[in-house]
Amino acid sequence: MSISPSPSSDGRSGPGSPGDLGPSWQQRYQEGPPRWDLGQPAPALVDWLTAPTVPVPGRVLVPGSGRGHDALLLARHGFEVMAVDFAPEAIAATREQAEAAGLSIQCLQRNIFELTPEYSHQFDYVVEHTCFCAINPDLRPAYVHLMADLLKPGGRLIAIFFTHSRPGGPPFGLSPEAVTPLFSDRFHLLSLEPVKNSVPSRRGEEHFGQLLKQPET
Ligand SMILES: C[S@@+](CC[C@H](N)C(=O)[O-])C[C@H]1O[C@@H](n2cnc3c(N)ncnc32)[C@H](O)[C@@H]1O
Repeated sequence: MSISPSPSSDGRSGPGSPGDLGPSWQQRYQEGPPRWDLGQPAPALVDWLTAPTVPVPGRVLVPGSGRGHDALLLARHGFEVMAVDFAPEAIAATREQAEAAGLSIQCLQRNIFELTPEYSHQFDYVVEHTCFCAINPDLRPAYVHLMADLLKPGGRLIAIFFTHSRPGGPPFGLSPEAVTPLFSDRFHLLSLEPVKNSVPSRRGEEHFGQLLKQPET
């Protein structure tokens, strides 16, 4: 099932609003190092890739990939990576980093909600890190369906959820208890654990989730 929201239809604007098609995020990149940019891959992803139960590499989508730190990490671990962000500055930085490192990464400047049907059922994994928290909560059900539609049968959504409880956003928080009800239409929750090695500014506010796409009916 596909849900294609019309993000620009309600007239609201600003980062994370349904009407945000990218310019405000682009502006934040142009203003200097954005405050969300860790300058390194998410520690929880490093742990996932180096755990004894190391994941089998496959084709992976990194939505809202920013300057590409997580995308590069995945490419280094043998994954075939597509990094998507609608901020041109972010995609340019990813391309530059990948070239400098001699890594092959498909870099696409696009609104993630416009990836289907072109990229439907193409990915073994989606690796989510601070994209979900960047979009307006009104779009969360559409995000769930989008991610399921992009995954192959048996594909997995690997997500670092920002589980802070401050009002407003972005970043918009999500309580750990809300994960199952939100995703259960299309995913089976395999695990959800507090992240133990978050960067200091996110300590105690991240959960690492692994979700299996349910068979399509
Ligand atoms: C909080 S930043 C995180 C970037 C990166 N994941 C990181 O951790 O550094 C959110 C990113 O998602 C991108 N983004 C937000 N909504 C998007 C959408 N609908 N389509 C594509 N990119 C989007 C923004 O341009 C921004 O780069």
